[in-house]
Amino acid sequence: MIFYYSGCGNSRFIAQSIAEAFNEKLVFIPEAQRNNNFEYNLSENEMLGFVYPIYSWRPPHLVDEFVNQLIIKGKLSYVWTAVTCGDNVGETESIFRKELKDRGLELDAAFCFKMPNTYVNMMGMSVDRVEVADEKIAKAKEKLPKVIEIIKAKTAFSDMIKGGLPRFKSNVIGKSFYKWASDKPFFANENCISCGLCVKVCPVQNITLENGRPQWHGNCNTCDACYHHCPKNAIQYGTKTRGKGQYYFKEK
Ligand SMILES: Cc1cc2nc3c(=O)[nH]c(=O)nc-3n(C[C@H](O)[C@H](O)[C@H](O)COP(=O)(O)O)c2cc1C
Repeated sequence: MIFYYSGCGNSRFIAQSIAEAFNEKLVFIPEAQRNNNFEYNLSENEMLGFVYPIYSWRPPHLVDEFVNQLIIKGKLSYVWTAVTCGDNVGETESIFRKELKDRGLELDAAFCFKMPNTYVNMMGMSVDRVEVADEKIAKAKEKLPKVIEIIKAKTAFSDMIKGGLPRFKSNVIGKSFYKWASDKPFFANENCISCGLCVKVCPVQNITLENGRPQWHGNCNTCDACYHHCPKNAIQYGTKTRGKGQYYFKEK
C-alpha cells in the first residue's frame, strides 16, 4: 500500500510510478482524511510506502496529521518513503522516522527526488526555468528504476538531500511556516474565466466559486495547485506572485 499526497503532480507521478512497478494500491491522503479512513489491515509481509512533497524542509502538516492518526494492522516487511523537493529536505527523514515510530512503524528506507519547484508565495521564490525543470524530471525518471530495485530488494537505504543548516531550516523555519502561511492573500484577477479548475485541483476542497470567482476558506495546505493550474494565470497571492510563471507536472 502506498499513501501519497501531491498538490502539483510531482509526488503523484513518483507515487504512481512506484505503485505500477509493484501493483500496489494507492491511497490519496486528503481523501482518506475526508473519509476518516485511518485504520488499514495489511496482509502478511506487505510493504508500506509514503510519498509526499517537502514543505519548508518538513513533511506537509496534512501528512503529519494523517500519520499521527494512522493505525496499521498486520506484520509489514518493509516501510519506505519517497519525497519530492525543489532543492533539499533538511531533517525530514528523522522527523518522519519519529512520527512513524510513534505509530509503531519502523522506517527502512528514505528516497528523495528533486523535482520542479512549486513554491511561489514568497518574494524571490519562483518556478524553475523550463530547462531546469525538464532536467530535474529527466533525472528523476532515470532514478526511478534504481529506487524501485532497492524497494524490491527491501534494502535499508537513505539518500535524502539535507542541504545546509538542516536543523535550523526544519526545526526553526519549518515549524513556524504554518503560522504565517495563510490563504487570505489569494485572489482571482479580472482574467478569471470562472472555469472552476482551481476548485477541482485543490486537494483539500478549500475553494468554492462564489458568483463565478474562487473563494478560499481558510483550510489551505499551501500547495499552490490553484495558482499553477489556472489557465489564465488569474490567481495571485497578494503581490508575491506578480509576474511569476506557473508549473504543474504533465506527463509528456
Ligand atoms: C509550501 C511549499 C513549501 C516548499 N518547501 C520546500 C522546501 O523546503 N525545500 C524544497 O526543496 N522544496 C520545497 N518546495 C517545493 C516542493 O517540495 C516541490 O516542488 C515538490 O516536488 C512539489 O510536489 P507536488 O507537485 O507533488 O505538490 C515547497 C513547495 C511548497 C508549495
